[in-house]
Amino acid sequence: MFFFLYDSLLLVCLSFSFYSSASATNVASYLARRTSSQVQSFTHDFNVALGVVLTSREKLQPQVHLTTGSQTVFCKSDAGATSAGSNSSSSSSSSGSSGTTKSTGTSTNTASAAGSSSTGVAISTPYRLVEEHVGSDFFDGWTFTDAADVTTHVSQFYVAGLVDYVDQGTASDNNLTEITSGGTAIMRVETTATVTGNRQSIRITTNNVYNSGLWILDAVHMPTGCGTWPAFWTNGPNWPDGGEIDIVEGVGDNTNDQATLHTLEGCSLASSSSSALGITGSVITSTDCVSTGGGCGIRSSSTVSYGAAFNGNGGGVFTMTLNSSGIAVWFFERSNIPSDITSGTPLPSLWGTPFAWWSSPTCNVTEFFGYQSTIFDTTLCGDLAGSVWSDAGAPGQEQSCATRTGVSDCDTFVQNNGAALQEAYWEINSVKIYQIPS
Ligand SMILES: *[C@@H]1O[C@H](CO)[C@@H](O)[C@H](O)[C@H]1NC(C)=O
Ligand SMILES: *[C@@H]1O[C@H](CO)[C@@H](O)[C@H](O)[C@H]1NC(C)=O
Ligand SMILES: *[C@@H]1O[C@H](CO)[C@@H](O)[C@H](O)[C@H]1NC(C)=O
Ligand SMILES: *[C@@H]1O[C@H](CO)[C@@H](O)[C@H](O)[C@H]1NC(C)=O
Repeated sequence: MFFFLYDSLLLVCLSFSFYSSASATNVASYLARRTSSQVQSFTHDFNVALGVVLTSREKLQPQVHLTTGSQTVFCKSDAGATSAGSNSSSSSSSSGSSGTTKSTGTSTNTASAAGSSSTGVAISTPYRLVEEHVGSDFFDGWTFTDAADVTTHVSQFYVAGLVDYVDQGTASDNNLTEITSGGTAIMRVETTATVTGNRQSIRITTNNVYNSGLWILDAVHMPTGCGTWPAFWTNGPNWPDGGEIDIVEGVGDNTNDQATLHTLEGCSLASSSSSALGITGSVITSTDCVSTGGGCGIRSSSTVSYGAAFNGNGGGVFTMTLNSSGIAVWFFERSNIPSDITSGTPLPSLWGTPFAWWSSPTCNVTEFFGYQSTIFDTTLCGDLAGSVWSDAGAPGQEQSCATRTGVSDCDTFVQNNGAALQEAYWEINSVKIYQIPS
């Protein structure tokens, strides 16, 4: 049943700050509420499929941190029934392209691209567009995962998210994907009033992979609300060997985005101090990026960088650069998108301080990050959104979902309140990937 897990194990992790000392208890009681057969049968399949991985990881430190009642780290592990991770060994700035991905693929020279800002000032950038997803062709070049979700907070418990990811035809037939008349791409979850099992959802992974470059997501809307756990992220082959970069991630009613790295042992942040790191965000996890510890997460200081606040503000742009000197993430709200980005001639040196920056002196990016595929997913409940259902205190989640909904657990709420998931959708203007030609 879980044969596809051999293909690629993809995890996306999130550290969640609790302000409730009952956090550990809440997690444990949530897990206890799951029927033991659900947990056991899943755990069994997962162990059968991934015995070697689990064995080696179990030798390391405990995989769920419940530190001082204030912070927990969760990971989303998923069967990537995808063709991602095509294993090119070419130079550090080339793409391992495969198959049908829409790629501009025309830039082989090193001349600068010239653009013009909205104020008419010409911008010269070494970055060239190598892949874009926009308009009626948005869904070209992605592989739709066609399998139940498999999420976990990498402890001995493995609790799947409450979604079945569906293939492209089913997604379109069931109105889960749509290209709007305005040219935006929509990815929804199923909003049928009540379901007895999982709700249908979307998870897409690019066919092309890159081990350096600049990623730009322009989103109008992201999934939000109690029970939701969406992410936009990249992942290298053979997790965690190839590294993982979470660019947009959060849960429930969060208002501040969190970016996180997950790696093999040996990559870290030099400090937990924002000023020492030269970032505008805050380190809210361990400084050690090792996947078994839950990764190293940095939260944006912008209260409109995630969730309903982001949506209500017209969305915005997330950018991520990956190169041998480090990995940086910026967020720009709609009213403040740099003109070099809108003109298609992005130049990161114009963007000011990133909210997140992991740099090479303490994390050798060349060593820890392989060719990255790019992923959108929306899951429901599962280890994170389910486990923190009764917790409050993270920005935007001043009141717990249990209090807000009056329903004591995530699954019951999500299964019986389809209308409450009307906001659980992505609406995307574009995803663009640029590289500096070698
Ligand atoms: C698809 O879903 C959206 C959001 O619920 C709705 O507004 C729209 O009418 C639906 N389209 C179709 C063809 O059912
Ligand atoms: C890449 O290919 C090489 C040679 O075929 C193989 O040894 C290696 O395991 C592959 N790496 C990944 C990450 O798939
Ligand atoms: C790598 O990315 C950072 C952040 O965008 C940038 O400051 C730096 O110049 C880049 N280095 C190279 C070699 O491209
Ligand atoms: C970073 O890792 C690469 C690949 O393993 C290696 O060639 C390089 O020497 C490392 N750089 C440093 C500064 O350790």
